[in-house]
Amino acid sequence: MSAEEHLVAMLDELGRVSDEDGKLTRTFLSPAMRRANGLVGGWMREAGLTVREDAVGNLIGRSEGAGGRAMGAKTLLLGSHLDSVRDAGRFDGPLGVLLPFVALAELKRRGVMLPFAVEVLGFSEEEGVRFASAYLGSEGYAGKLKAATLALRDGAGVSVGDALKEFAGGTFALPKAAHRRGELLGYVEVHIEQGPVLEAKRLAVGVVSAIAGQSRFKLTWTGKAGHAGTTPMALRRDALAGAAEFTLAVEKLARGTAGLVATVGALTVSPGAANVIPGGVVHTLDVRHASDARRKAALLRLGKLAAVIARKRGLKVAWQRTQDNGAVACSPALTAQLTRSVEAVQGTSLSLVSGAGHDGVVMSALTPVAMLFVRCRDGLSHHPDEYASPRDLGIALRVMVDFLERMGQQHGP
Ligand code: GLV
Ligand code: MN
Ligand code: MN
Repeated sequence: MSAEEHLVAMLDELGRVSDEDGKLTRTFLSPAMRRANGLVGGWMREAGLTVREDAVGNLIGRSEGAGGRAMGAKTLLLGSHLDSVRDAGRFDGPLGVLLPFVALAELKRRGVMLPFAVEVLGFSEEEGVRFASAYLGSEGYAGKLKAATLALRDGAGVSVGDALKEFAGGTFALPKAAHRRGELLGYVEVHIEQGPVLEAKRLAVGVVSAIAGQSRFKLTWTGKAGHAGTTPMALRRDALAGAAEFTLAVEKLARGTAGLVATVGALTVSPGAANVIPGGVVHTLDVRHASDARRKAALLRLGKLAAVIARKRGLKVAWQRTQDNGAVACSPALTAQLTRSVEAVQGTSLSLVSGAGHDGVVMSALTPVAMLFVRCRDGLSHHPDEYASPRDLGIALRVMVDFLERMGQQHGP
């Protein structure tokens, strides 16, 4: 089996490790996440890496450089996430975890020894599905997990802190960063583009220049439940009708603001019966823009719109911020290095901005970051039909091998 076929076979097999029958769903610390760590950890060992799991469930495979654990030898980080959205595709996340160790195995096969260590990271949480807060894995690795995050609760009322205690089999303390900044060479993430640009340009891969900022919230609308048959329309305080009006206002604002994307993606209605007026609604809100100033201006506007809708309908609305990340610029030096490798393999490169969030956002607080994007069919992602062709995956693999060789030459004796 070629390296590229091996990569495709692993993506397929990992894509079947799910918490739900018939679809791919793997959320933070779930049974499927634990099985995924076991499976990928085994593959990492076969590739010659030393494997461990950290306190937040990140899977970490380490390969020492030519000098072993020599004093002063730095570490390059390569990775992405192993969790998924609900009913996901199999590439978003896993590609950036599996491809690096296939590349390392390929270098080993060719007898190339790198002068630095490499850590391949399978982050336990990036999508924010279970706790409506993304990046829990990379925050744990980078020492950025906050005490306030531990109090967030999932749909079943379990807090992040309790889930982590259960995972550890007892106690959990907020982890320190896995490395000091000076010990690291950078973090490089390979990811499907999740958008249509590479396909339109007929290119297999491109290099990311920056990642757009994003804010996420949980909004709670409170009205009054009552009998759906006997309560006149004028006397109702229907929380769902308010949340629905706000959802349309969110869509209207984003449609009318260049570069703004905003989504109400999950919504819970209570008490939730056909013949009861909805007394309460909790829903998410995700707002993104490449410009932090424009994102903040949109949030101010949405805050005012929600207040007006609530007042008009006799409702209360409360906002809980679950995530807030500014836009992140990729490292010019690492990005230039990656671009050289893309040019060497593909002939030409393309620079893209990422509208999706990535672990690189959090990792940029610890070390310089760069990202390689791989074309995906119809730009489709967060969907079971997400697809990147074996040919494109092969090109991405060759870029990573070339990049590691160049980094080896640059940092060699
Ligand atoms: C991650 O997939 C995101 O929501 O951008
Ligand atoms: Mn992803
Ligand atoms: Mn995703």
